Amino acid sequence: MYQAAVFIHLASAIIWIGGSLFLALVLIPVMRRFAPAPGQPPVLPPDMLGMMARRFRVISWICIALLVATGLYILPTRYGIGFAEFFSLGGHFVAVLQVKVALVVVVIWLSAMHDFIIGPHANRLIEAMQAGAEPPGYLSALRRAVVWIARVNVLLTILIVVVAVTMTRGTPV
Ligand code: HEM
Repeated sequence: MYQAAVFIHLASAIIWIGGSLFLALVLIPVMRRFAPAPGQPPVLPPDMLGMMARRFRVISWICIALLVATGLYILPTRYGIGFAEFFSLGGHFVAVLQVKVALVVVVIWLSAMHDFIIGPHANRLIEAMQAGAEPPGYLSALRRAVVWIARVNVLLTILIVVVAVTMTRGTPV
């Protein structure tokens, strides 16, 4: 059961981080090249990127749920770490675990802001603008914030992997 939990933990991290990097480094840059020139008809179906991003959003939240659930299962069953031990000064493993969980909380909060609050709000304003409404002055700042939250989040998830390896395998020096 422990091995299965570690497998699901690692597979979820791979799918989440791999998918996020594919979106940021491959899909979005390539799709930007197909953005229609002013006055030209769109080459790709409208909202194609949005559809893909929304589909990946479901996958990434499933991965987050699996990471948290398996992590919380492994801690007491394999390492004997419960609520009391987690909040103690319990040596290297617990100290690094505390850093890891703090980073996980930040990443989940940023993901929620990006996926459920700021991102959808920016999308609604863009759709209204495309329908002819006057865009508010803060729209470009909002769009930049959405992009930067996503970038910072990917970097933080990679940092979580570094912290996780340090937790189980110690520091290199
Ligand atoms: C509350 C959330 C989490 C908890 C409680 C948790 C807990 C753990 C534990 C106990 C292990 C050790 C497994 C073992 O016995 O080998 C582990 C390993 C690992 N975790 Fe997490 N984890 C959480 C979230 C995450 C997230 C969000 C990521 C990635 C973004 C992640 C990536 C990893 C990786 C890559 C390892 C393997 C490290 C190694 O084998 O050297 N974890 N985690």
